[in-house]
Amino acid sequence: MTSRQILVTSALPYVNGDIHLGHMVEHVQTDIWVRYQRLRGHNLRYFCADDTHGTATMIRAREEGIEPEALLEDMSAIHQADLAGFGICFDHYGSTHAPSNEKLVGEFWAALRAGGHVAERDVTQLFDTEAGVFLADRFVQGECPRCQAADQYGDNCDACGATYTPDELKNPTSTLSGSVPETRTAKHLFVQLRDFQDFLEDWTQTGDRIPSETANWLKGTFLSEPLRDWDISRPAPYFGFEIPDAPGHYFYVWLDAPVGYISATQDWCDAGGHDLADWWKNDDCEIHHFIGKDIAYFHTLFWPAMLKTTGYALPKKVHVHGFLTVNGEKMSKRKGTYIRARTYLEHLSPDYLRYFYASKLSSAVHDIDLNFEEFTAKVNSDLVGKVVNLASRTARFVEGKALAPYPDDGGLFATAAAAATEIAASYEACDYGKALRTVMALADRANEYVEAKAPWVIRKDPERADELLEVCTVSLNLFRQITVYLAPVLPDLAERGASLLSAGPITWEDTQTPLEGNVVAKFEHLMQRVDPKKLDALIAASQQ
Ligand code: MSP
Ligand code: ZN
Repeated sequence: MTSRQILVTSALPYVNGDIHLGHMVEHVQTDIWVRYQRLRGHNLRYFCADDTHGTATMIRAREEGIEPEALLEDMSAIHQADLAGFGICFDHYGSTHAPSNEKLVGEFWAALRAGGHVAERDVTQLFDTEAGVFLADRFVQGECPRCQAADQYGDNCDACGATYTPDELKNPTSTLSGSVPETRTAKHLFVQLRDFQDFLEDWTQTGDRIPSETANWLKGTFLSEPLRDWDISRPAPYFGFEIPDAPGHYFYVWLDAPVGYISATQDWCDAGGHDLADWWKNDDCEIHHFIGKDIAYFHTLFWPAMLKTTGYALPKKVHVHGFLTVNGEKMSKRKGTYIRARTYLEHLSPDYLRYFYASKLSSAVHDIDLNFEEFTAKVNSDLVGKVVNLASRTARFVEGKALAPYPDDGGLFATAAAAATEIAASYEACDYGKALRTVMALADRANEYVEAKAPWVIRKDPERADELLEVCTVSLNLFRQITVYLAPVLPDLAERGASLLSAGPITWEDTQTPLEGNVVAKFEHLMQRVDPKKLDALIAASQQ
């Protein structure tokens, strides 16, 4: 197999919020794919960053009485610690406020201008005179212009589904100051997306770059009529990059955010002496974005148009996942189901969540439900009951001994080795649920073998020591084979499995040949059942 060069990204979390279990769907999904590709020996780099700009950052820094830059630093450290706690293995975690990003955004802007894709128009927006800012849709509340429902935000109505602009709301108030905003008109700059209509039609509707659900949605919602101009500037005050040829105006956060994928790569290149063009202007490098369905149109309309104009590589694939619900509902602070990554880590093992999410993920854009009963049952029965059990029921009997030459196991190891192709295809397609079902079927057969051989009976008879070693050799090798298959999902378990059998660094090929002669180390517990008390404590802590 030839080695592929791959660049992978997860969407950039907003700097203003904490990482929660919804974000973790995406980071776990991406990280599994990344670890799988690395296990196959591919040349891969994984980048992410904080998405820093916008009115919300400015307001929050103001409230806390600090400079926005100080806020960015604090939050970046917290985000990175949270993500590291779940084993997410970036090559670099950047910031859209980095100087490298400002420089690159300038390059994109110059290309858009030079291509004649920029238009200028007046826009009327609500302005909060007390806070001194233009109000983004989410900072205005009022009555729905269609159904009169109270307390609706400035973009759409929760009650009747109407969409509108904030100045159409009846009796609007600012959520920042509670004051009644006034309308003000200012110049805005627009990118003329219709210049890219044919290109985007082709890019999204042919090939397999994006999921078919997303392609159909784009076709039905946007591409069936001329694409509307995209408003990419905001008048001062705004926390962002000032537009070089429009002083007093700033790039809208969504213009510079995806450029953060490239600037994070740039910063990594600068630190290690690599060449950006090798990764972003190289036909042999595959670019894969992982995102949630809510931001699909930014990544499948605006971003490809920007990349094409500027001459950077277009993504080979945009992988789109659905949204997380908890116990069947939207995450809710009141019910304790809005769970921060940090709170989770204070109570439960990240491995549980990595495994549970993996079991739920497929290549379709489906929402995922975190049901705590199912979570507990799955972790306990699959990981503890089927996988870890293979080692815990046999390793102690042969502690300090060398594994036997691999005996006849009725074809168990060979059958499981042959499953590598199918499991690999499932990982490649992000169909992790299917990969895990295949692996658990192998674990079932391995457990049947151990049951039938009953090493706990054999060990009572000193005459049967050789037989005991053979049975344990089979069981521990099947265990090891399974943990290698699971390594993209549960890297720590795979590591501990390897050290139990005094084996070296893990590679995918380890699934093809049994270990012989390796000394079995002292058995230490590999994973515990989910403690229902800790789960309750997590929910209670999330309710506060
Ligand atoms: N900052 C933008 C992304 C810019 S990418 C150039 C953003 N940030 S976010 O923090 O709101 O979301 C980051 C990612 O997490 C997005 O892909 C989003 O879809 C995902 N999720 C956020 N909440 C989620 C759930 N509840 N469930 C699943 N994924 C969710 O959007
Ligand atoms: Zn309404």
